[in-house]
Amino acid sequence: MTATEAAEEVLTHLRGWLAATADPVLAAALLDAGCTLVRHAHVMRRHLAESDADELPDPSWNILAFTASAQPPRPWTEVLPSLLGAYPPSHPDHLPGGESLIDDYLIPYTSGGRLGPLIHQASGLAVAGDEVVGGILVVDRPGEGPWISDIWRSPTPDRPGVGAALLMWSVKHLARSGQQTLGLAVTDSNSRARTVYSRAGFIVETTAWTVSVPTLS
Ligand SMILES: CC(C)(COP(=O)(O)OP(=O)(O)OC[C@H]1O[C@@H](n2cnc3c(N)ncnc32)[C@H](O)[C@@H]1OP(=O)(O)O)[C@@H](O)C(=O)NCCC(=O)NCCS
Repeated sequence: MTATEAAEEVLTHLRGWLAATADPVLAAALLDAGCTLVRHAHVMRRHLAESDADELPDPSWNILAFTASAQPPRPWTEVLPSLLGAYPPSHPDHLPGGESLIDDYLIPYTSGGRLGPLIHQASGLAVAGDEVVGGILVVDRPGEGPWISDIWRSPTPDRPGVGAALLMWSVKHLARSGQQTLGLAVTDSNSRARTVYSRAGFIVETTAWTVSVPTLS
């Protein structure tokens, strides 16, 4: 079956559904056939070495770990501004919802209700004075192991490097507890994040296109 024929089958049988493929030719055929791109993303993974356990903390940032009961070291209301700032409408993974993101996003993703239980020792907030300036959430994702469910930093005032520091802080704590890998998914057009991940040693493992199959008009 050619990619064009496969795309026609998808349009015949999966109208109104989301479809995902790791085949770039099929992805192009689906888009040509009228599907809408929802996400073009990469799974990236980094192997953790014993030497990662000795990673020195970046002295520029004060990073506080989540508690053993997956509670943030600062109240969620103090965390939210940095998250909202990191995902404005212009961001490819914009997080809409404002204050409701605490109940609809932050709490479900840290309480284990979505991707997996939080690895609290490797999840933290970067704090400058009284201000939360960034965060990293690492979960134990079934079938994947340690997985970054989110990482962000406040864009104002511009604090370059806090994301990379959070990343290496998590790498250190995961390596110390004997974990072997750390994975994540990143949207193709999120060039900033991809730059940071590549620099930190993450390698693209798989790429996938998720499309929305049109309903009958
Ligand atoms: C991902 C993130 C946490 C990294 O934070 P950080 O380590 O402080 O790094 P910065 O954001 O300052 O940018 C990293 C690099 O990307 C570069 N960069 C900026 N825009 C870029 C672009 N459009 N294309 C490529 N690189 C870009 C920056 O110049 C910087 O490089 P430099 O250190 O040589 O100056 C931060 O960019 C962020 O919060 N992004 C929004 C939320 C997000 O996308 N999270 C990841 C979800 S998978």
